[in-house]
Amino acid sequence: MNICVIGTGYVGLVTGAVFSDLGNDVICVDKDKSKIEMLNRGEMPIYEPGLEEMVARNVADARLSFSTDVGEGVRRSEVIFIAVGTPPGEDGNADLSAVIDAAKVIARNIDRYKVVVNKSTVPVGTGDLVRDVIERNKVRDVEFDVVSNPEFLREGSAIADTLYPDRIVIGAPNSNVAMRILELYAPLERPMLVTDVHSAEMIKYASNAFLATKISFINAISQICEKAGADVVQVTKGMGYDSRIGPAFLNAGLGYGGSCFGKDTRCLIHTAEELGYDFKLLRSVVEINDEQPQHFIGRMAEVLGDLEGKTVGVLGLAFKPNTDDMRDAKSIDIIGGLLSRGATVKAYDPIAAENARKVFPQIDYSKTPYDVADRADALAVVTEWNEFKLLNMERLKERMQRPIIFDGRNMYDPQRMRKLGFDYYCIGRCPNAKGTNGGC
Ligand SMILES: NC(=O)c1ccc[n+]([C@@H]2O[C@H](COP(=O)([O-])OP(=O)(O)OC[C@H]3O[C@@H](n4cnc5c(N)ncnc54)[C@H](O)[C@@H]3O)[C@@H](O)[C@H]2O)c1
Repeated sequence: MNICVIGTGYVGLVTGAVFSDLGNDVICVDKDKSKIEMLNRGEMPIYEPGLEEMVARNVADARLSFSTDVGEGVRRSEVIFIAVGTPPGEDGNADLSAVIDAAKVIARNIDRYKVVVNKSTVPVGTGDLVRDVIERNKVRDVEFDVVSNPEFLREGSAIADTLYPDRIVIGAPNSNVAMRILELYAPLERPMLVTDVHSAEMIKYASNAFLATKISFINAISQICEKAGADVVQVTKGMGYDSRIGPAFLNAGLGYGGSCFGKDTRCLIHTAEELGYDFKLLRSVVEINDEQPQHFIGRMAEVLGDLEGKTVGVLGLAFKPNTDDMRDAKSIDIIGGLLSRGATVKAYDPIAAENARKVFPQIDYSKTPYDVADRADALAVVTEWNEFKLLNMERLKERMQRPIIFDGRNMYDPQRMRKLGFDYYCIGRCPNAKGTNGGC
C-alpha cells in the first residue's frame, strides 16, 4: 500500500519505518527542512533504540523516503497518517493548529478517494473537525474518509511497541474504511478494536489519564508511607500481585513527565469542563504530580540546610530512560528548583545532555556519572537509567564532598547504601529523614 505519514517526530518516524518494514511504500513528510535533510543523510533527528537500522534498511530497499513536499506525499498515497504535534495551548486544551494545517494541505492535494488517519492525540470531536476542514478546502470533488487511530507507543521502546502493541484501536465512520486499516495492521497479528471515531479519540485520553492516576495514586501513598514508617516499595509489590491492580505504573518517584501525560491530562480536564463535567479526580492527579518534585527539593533543603552555595550532582535528565526527550522532564523542575535556591548544579545523562543544554545552558554537563559526583555535597537520582543500577558506589563516594544521595526513583537498597556509608534518602521509604533507618 502507498502510505504518507505527515510529521516525522517520535510517532510519525517510527510509524513510517514500521509500515515500510512490513512491505508498504512509505513517504514520510515534514515541514521541518532540517529534519528531512538529516533523514536524507541517514541521520536520526531523535534517539530511539533500533530506529536507525530499520530506517536504513528500508531506505536501501527503496520502500521508505523523506520529503518536505507534503502535497506530493498526499498525491501519491492511498492512506495518509497525520502524526503532527498537538502541544498544550494556554488554556490546557490541545493546540490543533498543526493538525488543521495538515488537513488543509490534504484538501488542496486530494485527487482521488483517500483515507485520512489521525494518529496524533486529539480531543474528542477532532475527526469531525478534520473532515470539515478538508471538505471546505478541497479543490476537487472527491470522496475521502477520516479515521481515528490513536498511538500508544512509549518513547524508548517505540519500535517494539509499534510492532507488538497491546491493542490497535481503529475509530472508523464505516465498515469499508475500517477493513482497509485492519488490513494494513493485519501482519502484526495483534488484538484490534474497531469503534466509532469519537470513542477511539476518547480511548487515548482515558488510557493516559488512567495511567497518570496510577502514578499519582502511588505517589500519594508514598507520602503517607513516609509519615507512617511504611515502605512504599513493599506496598507496591503487595498491591501489584493483585491481578485486578497489576504492578505497571505503580512506582513511586518524582511523578510522570514527558510530552504526553501532562498535556493529555490537562486537555481531558479541559474537554470535560467544556462538556459540563468537573473532572475533580483528574485535577487532583495533576496537583499531586506537580507537588512531587517540590517535596523532593524540600527534603534536600531539610537535609543540606541552606541550598545556597551547595553543589548538587544530578544523575539523569531525560523524562525517562532510553530517550533523549526532555519535554516536561522532572529534571527541569528539580534543576530549576535547585538553581533558584542558589545551588550549583552539575548533571549527567547518557543521551539527553545535548537537549538539556538547550533548557539549562548555564550548568556543567559531566561525561560520566563519577565526574558528576566530584566534590558534590549531594547527588540526586532523577532518571532511572539502567547504567545507574550497578554504579561503583565506593568510587562515587570517594569523589563526593559529602556522601549524601537523594534517590527520586528508588533505585537502590536503603540498607546496602547505609552499609556503604551513604546518607540515603528515597521516596516513600523514609519514616524520618535522619532517623533510625540510617537516613532513610
Ligand atoms: N511521543 C510520544 O511518545 C507519543 C505517544 C503517543 C502519541 N503521541 C502523540 O502523537 C503526536 C505526535 O507526537 P510526537 O512526539 O511524534 O511529536 P513531535 O513533536 O516529535 O513531531 C511532530 C512533527 O510534526 C511536524 N509537523 C508539525 N506540523 C506539520 C505540518 N503542518 N506539516 C508537516 N509536518 C508538521 C513537526 O515538524 C515535527 O517533526 C502528538 O499528538 C502526541 O501527543 C506521542
